[in-house]
Amino acid sequence: MFEVTFQNYTFQSPLMNASGVHCMTSEELNGLIDSRAGTFITKSVTRQKRQGNPEPRYYETTLGSINSMGLPNLGFDYYLDYVNEYQKNFSTPMFFSVASMSMQENIETLKKLEDSDFHGFTELNLSCPNVAGKPQVAYDFALTEQILTEIFSFYTKPLGVKLPPYFDIAHFDQIATILNKFPLTFVNSINSVGNGLIIDPDKEQVVIKPKEGFGGIGGEYIKPTALANVRAFYTRLNPSIQIIGTGGIVSGQDAFEHLLCGASMLQIGTQLYKEGTSVFARILDELAVIMDTKGYSNIQQFQGKLKTI
Ligand code: DHB
Repeated sequence: MFEVTFQNYTFQSPLMNASGVHCMTSEELNGLIDSRAGTFITKSVTRQKRQGNPEPRYYETTLGSINSMGLPNLGFDYYLDYVNEYQKNFSTPMFFSVASMSMQENIETLKKLEDSDFHGFTELNLSCPNVAGKPQVAYDFALTEQILTEIFSFYTKPLGVKLPPYFDIAHFDQIATILNKFPLTFVNSINSVGNGLIIDPDKEQVVIKPKEGFGGIGGEYIKPTALANVRAFYTRLNPSIQIIGTGGIVSGQDAFEHLLCGASMLQIGTQLYKEGTSVFARILDELAVIMDTKGYSNIQQFQGKLKTI
């Protein structure tokens, strides 16, 4: 009932974690394998291990979360070792998230992945809002085009990009025109809404330490923005570029709405953090009820078929 075809592979479920949540250590990654997620992705990886920003750097509210983690991760070699072990035991392709810290680092990391035995999907993160002094790459359209030109001059494995949210129709048009020039496998929309501010009114204080409290917003707050981005890319990108929908998926209904907008895979961040890996089974159960009620027996029957009035 939940099978989705993603490039040349059929996943048993469209659900997976969003990079950054439950995917830093091998124990966390193994927990995703044991869940109802169809596949999973690593934390965004830098060449060297990073501690990330000072704590507190993640804070939850009823409607979502704010984070400014600062790319803590165990370094490229750790995750490549994990991939090599994983691929010995499982045939389902996994996703490897590569952080974009500098053009040079991107190229070095992707050259290593190209030369490795990794045969999953690569997600190039062009949208981290949390490293002080490093703007979100994909808000700079010329730089985005330059990076993709460089990468596709040597990278032959399936690669997609994780994008920040866009808010203007002209920006959807401009970035889609650039993305359509490249043999991308997928676009993942959206990363957190960058540089929001959540405040504790009792303490009259921000709730996270880095960047004077500014950080990426996730969860229920961001679903309408996520849906708009998924829909805008679904209707603008070459059909060979599939969409991963991320942002505000808390229930089966949220998953259904992302699929209606045209998403193929769905990533869950804030709600996975809140609820743990049982979130995947719950959301699939809720999605099954909606599909049954509407008489759908598979996702393809409604995927992308959002109506206008
Ligand atoms: C971090 C946050 C992000 O939204 C992202 O895309 C990558 C890294 C972080 O702060 O670790």
